[in-house]
Amino acid sequence: MSGIRPTGFLHLGNYFGALRNYVRMQDAYTCYFMVADLHALTTLNETKGLKQHVRRVLAENIASGLDPDKVALYCQSHVPETSELYLFLNMLAYKGELEKTPTFKDKVRLQPNNVNAGLLTYPVLMAADILLHRATLVPVGKDQEQHLEIARDFAGRFNKRYEREVFPEPFAFNFGEELVKVPSLDGAGKMSKSENQMATIYLADDDDTIRKKIKKAKTESVADPAAPMPASIENLFQLLKLVCTPDVVSKFHADYQAGTVRYGDMKSELAEGMVSFIAPIREKAEQIQNDDSYLKKVMEQGAAKARASAAVTVELAKEAIGLIYY
Ligand code: TRP
Repeated sequence: MSGIRPTGFLHLGNYFGALRNYVRMQDAYTCYFMVADLHALTTLNETKGLKQHVRRVLAENIASGLDPDKVALYCQSHVPETSELYLFLNMLAYKGELEKTPTFKDKVRLQPNNVNAGLLTYPVLMAADILLHRATLVPVGKDQEQHLEIARDFAGRFNKRYEREVFPEPFAFNFGEELVKVPSLDGAGKMSKSENQMATIYLADDDDTIRKKIKKAKTESVADPAAPMPASIENLFQLLKLVCTPDVVSKFHADYQAGTVRYGDMKSELAEGMVSFIAPIREKAEQIQNDDSYLKKVMEQGAAKARASAAVTVELAKEAIGLIYY
């Protein structure tokens, strides 16, 4: 089980950090992948763009290889059982522990005038998403580790308080590999949905935008190739590895070591690799996003699968709590 917030278009970091793992999981496991539209409400002041973003994220999931016939691909708000379990879990969530969650503290800093209760209970809602399917494997990036730990705590707390093993413990999952870092083009940090759009490659970027962004990527001249590689150059190599063939990567490595590397050439090569990688996903996503009847079918079918699984869990939870009266 996993979720993506529809607060912007997806980028290369989402692809390599999340989507690619989803696609690899779909043949081996029963999967629930969800667009976290309710989570998006914790930070959105206005919801005008929500519809477009939800449809785009769904389309990008499918364009990246996710098969809605194999997995449950759904919108969080289409599964009201989520909100019901969220309410039950709120009884197990302590104000103090929620207040000290690092992501909460970050958001308080970012939006001091909108520190709403939904923001505080963000991790409870995420725990509800996961526990709703009694999921055990959650493909997420490093930044979600703490939320997952909270979900594990709630599972254990619920089972203990109501003396029934309803929820298994969920764990972060990534096929036992190092999580790939997708560095931003400005030499600092990772690609992100909102920060510095020129330094992030989106799955929706057209060919020329991709070329332009890569052309502007930060580089610095290196006097001594034997010294540690500067971060901006390492980032370029990292990106090259993601979208170009190994022989292209080794050619530029050799040039770098010989002190003859031409960053202009390296960037053109990277740009063309990136264009060939992104263009088919973008075109497919566009076509899906504009296909109203197909998207409707996907959403209905996803919600039906998710609700079937959710109904069983909510019933088990109610029985454990003692909310069955006849
Ligand atoms: N909090 C996650 C993020 O910001 C999104 C999310 C919502 C999620 N519900 C989830 C991730 C359930 C995994 C499982 O990226």
